[in-house]
Amino acid sequence: MIKNLVRRNILDIKPYEPGKPIEELKRELNILDIVKMASNENPLGPSKKAIRAMRKAISTVNRYPDGSCYCLKEALSKKLNVSPENLIIGNGSNEIIELVTRTFLDKDEEVIMSEPSFLIYNIASRISDGMPVMVPLTDFKADLNKIRDSIGPRTKLILIDNPNNPTGRSVGEAEVEGFLEKLPDNIIVVFDEAYNEFVEREDFPDTKRYIGRKNIIILRTFSKAHGLSGLRIGYGIASKEAVQFMNRARQPFNVNSVAQAAAIASLRDEEHIANSRLLISEGKRFLYNNLDSMGLRYVKSDTNFILVNAGRSAKAVFEEMLKKGVIVRSMEAYKLDDYIRVTIGTMAENRRFVKTLKEVLTKNDRSSTKSV
Ligand SMILES: Cc1ncc(COP(=O)(O)O)c(C=O)c1O
Repeated sequence: MIKNLVRRNILDIKPYEPGKPIEELKRELNILDIVKMASNENPLGPSKKAIRAMRKAISTVNRYPDGSCYCLKEALSKKLNVSPENLIIGNGSNEIIELVTRTFLDKDEEVIMSEPSFLIYNIASRISDGMPVMVPLTDFKADLNKIRDSIGPRTKLILIDNPNNPTGRSVGEAEVEGFLEKLPDNIIVVFDEAYNEFVEREDFPDTKRYIGRKNIIILRTFSKAHGLSGLRIGYGIASKEAVQFMNRARQPFNVNSVAQAAAIASLRDEEHIANSRLLISEGKRFLYNNLDSMGLRYVKSDTNFILVNAGRSAKAVFEEMLKKGVIVRSMEAYKLDDYIRVTIGTMAENRRFVKTLKEVLTKNDRSSTKSV
């Protein structure tokens, strides 16, 4: 029995369920016209410049990639105004979460995170023998006071997705400043800013300022606004020392050469990011208006997704929508049983989402009226 040989921590982990891929639904239901609004991807696709760079990079994949990601770090360093030595590149920012837990966590040390927050925090912490400490959100956003009150003698890490996934709400500069002021020096705080390009509030914290003053690691990704999810590339910004230690825990060739080339080209295409931002901002307004007119409650979002209270079992709504070719995310795994999370799409996709949601909810209304 192989089960008896598995580490305790792995036995306890509930596997992460990603958004359903379009191809899988095509195979299962034989529907061709499918929209995926489930994984917070960029509906515009990658930048044209990135596509050209990828084509060019393909011809040299017989060689190992540059394990140090030299050119990408140079490009990021100019963009972010940090030294290349403050940067670590990962196979998605997901890998950097793992590098953080692998590098810094010792057995039974505590990792504080919001509940709900990105599910991988809990999984990565447990894989590394850490103990997750879950702190409920207040008003759908990270409660930094409660997080500070949860710090104990065994706390090593605090993981904060800002904005939060799945709610889309963020914490502002004043809150972060107050929180960090009182942060003990033996604790590392990770600010996961996967959706930072979409944040419109002006007081969103510039967390780079705290590097060196506090043990801060910032995570960013090319998977969201840059539209490169399929390549798996993200990065961390941290003190040089922290980067050096994380590099010890990293595979030598963790980021492939096509991804590196695409990321560099994408950084140069500011127009693509601006267009993506605009699309999301317009789509958000469209969806808010429609959700309002349907009388549904939702959380105002600083990201490219919206958490919607469907007013009934989200799993059922998710499955009904799936049958009609619209993939959203049921939030059951996040213990939000009545909520779905929808990624803002193109205007055509947003319209299809609204139409399908209306159909599904009225159908349910009719069947529940009948059964009364
Ligand atoms: C908050 C947050 N962090 C990290 C990630 C992972 O991104 P990546 O594709 O860079 O691994 C996601 C993806 O959904 C996310 O929502």
